[in-house]
Amino acid sequence: MKYRKFDLKKDKEAVFRILNECGWVHDKKKDKYLNKFLPAANTLVIDVNGEAEVMANSSIGTIRYQDEKLKLSAITGLTASLIARKQGFAGRLTAIRLALDAEKGAEVGALCIFDQGYYNKLGFGNGNYEQIVCITPATLNINRKTKIPVRLTEKDYKKIHKNRVERMPAHCAVTLPEYATQAELGEENKNMGFGYFDEKGNLTHHLWLYGKGKEQGPLWVSWMAYQNLDQLMDLLAFLKSFEEQFLMIKMIEPSFINMQDFIERPYLMRGMTQKSEHQNKISSSAYWQLRILNLQKCMKKTHLNCEDFSFNLQLSDPIGKYIPEDIKWKGIAGDYVISLGKNSSTKKGKQKDLPALKASVNAFTRMWFGIMPASSLVYSDGIEAPQDLLKKLDKAFLLPEAHVDWGF
Ligand SMILES: CC(C)(COP(=O)(O)OP(=O)(O)OC[C@H]1O[C@@H](n2cnc3c(N)ncnc32)[C@H](O)[C@@H]1OP(=O)(O)O)[C@@H](O)C(=O)NCCC(=O)NCCS
Repeated sequence: MKYRKFDLKKDKEAVFRILNECGWVHDKKKDKYLNKFLPAANTLVIDVNGEAEVMANSSIGTIRYQDEKLKLSAITGLTASLIARKQGFAGRLTAIRLALDAEKGAEVGALCIFDQGYYNKLGFGNGNYEQIVCITPATLNINRKTKIPVRLTEKDYKKIHKNRVERMPAHCAVTLPEYATQAELGEENKNMGFGYFDEKGNLTHHLWLYGKGKEQGPLWVSWMAYQNLDQLMDLLAFLKSFEEQFLMIKMIEPSFINMQDFIERPYLMRGMTQKSEHQNKISSSAYWQLRILNLQKCMKKTHLNCEDFSFNLQLSDPIGKYIPEDIKWKGIAGDYVISLGKNSSTKKGKQKDLPALKASVNAFTRMWFGIMPASSLVYSDGIEAPQDLLKKLDKAFLLPEAHVDWGF
């Protein structure tokens, strides 16, 4: 199985066919994902009978760990054509993309899943639940006058991207490169943006909506960017101002708030709209996953509110078997001594008299990001450690809620 770099000129027909067969791309000439995103996004392909039939790509961005920023490899696309499935090509190409990015300095990997289990084989573990909010804007309880925003279009992509990069940062917040924002703006006839500028002409807060042209909605909030919660209230007040016309707005719950706090009679609305096209509800799903790619660098950027303690870590990593000989990085399995506290660190090897934690990289990443406590991972992910160590780990990783706050 040979992989190579994607070449837009040479591979356009073949990669269009892959993307078209999986239903993602319909317009070979104009599609932004094919023509703009793929050439920028470290795209790799695998040939079958001389033509590209499998494609995987990544975008190098950042992911926050509390106040620190880590270098991220986000898998921003993976598809196999209908003749190249179930051959192991797609999984191996994803592993190769991650390995190459890890060699170039990526510290963490992230992706969104089509289902649970597939990427676990590459060392990924579930992220936090995200709340998917479906509401009628008339039920928004926001007591402020709507400020008139400015319309944003594709031409404003640089300002839009800058505002996203500078948004109020949640633990785990992801930022991808400018080309990703540009591609995510989508087609003009289905998307629209609105934002607010300060006196100096900087875009301070904005939102991007999908669903233009539908009289009563639904409108999907693709994203919101705000630098403080007061600005978030402006954006919610703006959405409320649609209440006389639109029956449904859908969004991923914004970081730092519970949307239910801003909804009038949420249970009454849920009951009254049950089984309707405009059903009001808040549902949850853990649709993104993470894994550590560089343990030393991740530990170095870990600052915890706990007393200093150390333990031996016996870490397993399933990714190695998917990576070919020519790539040196084969995952991070091994024995480590981990020291946690205000300043954390790790070194290779074992130290006598220290308690031991046995974990997969999948589970260790989940614990480290504060997604699930160590004591729960014993049952969900099979980690093993003495009770005393589990208790210390549970306390050490009491971190803010993790939200990637970026679609990819
Ligand atoms: C996702 C996709 C790339 C997978 O392609 P594929 O050719 O089936 O993948 P691979 O050959 O690498 O892996 C197949 C193996 O994964 C296993 N698998 C698939 N889904 C799984 C899951 N949820 N949990 C565990 N294993 C899973 C299969 O059973 C198969 O196992 P086997 O090798 O033991 O038979 C392909 O279905 C596709 O292009 N889908 C459309 C686009 C898409 O959804 N992309 C992913 C975006 S996140």
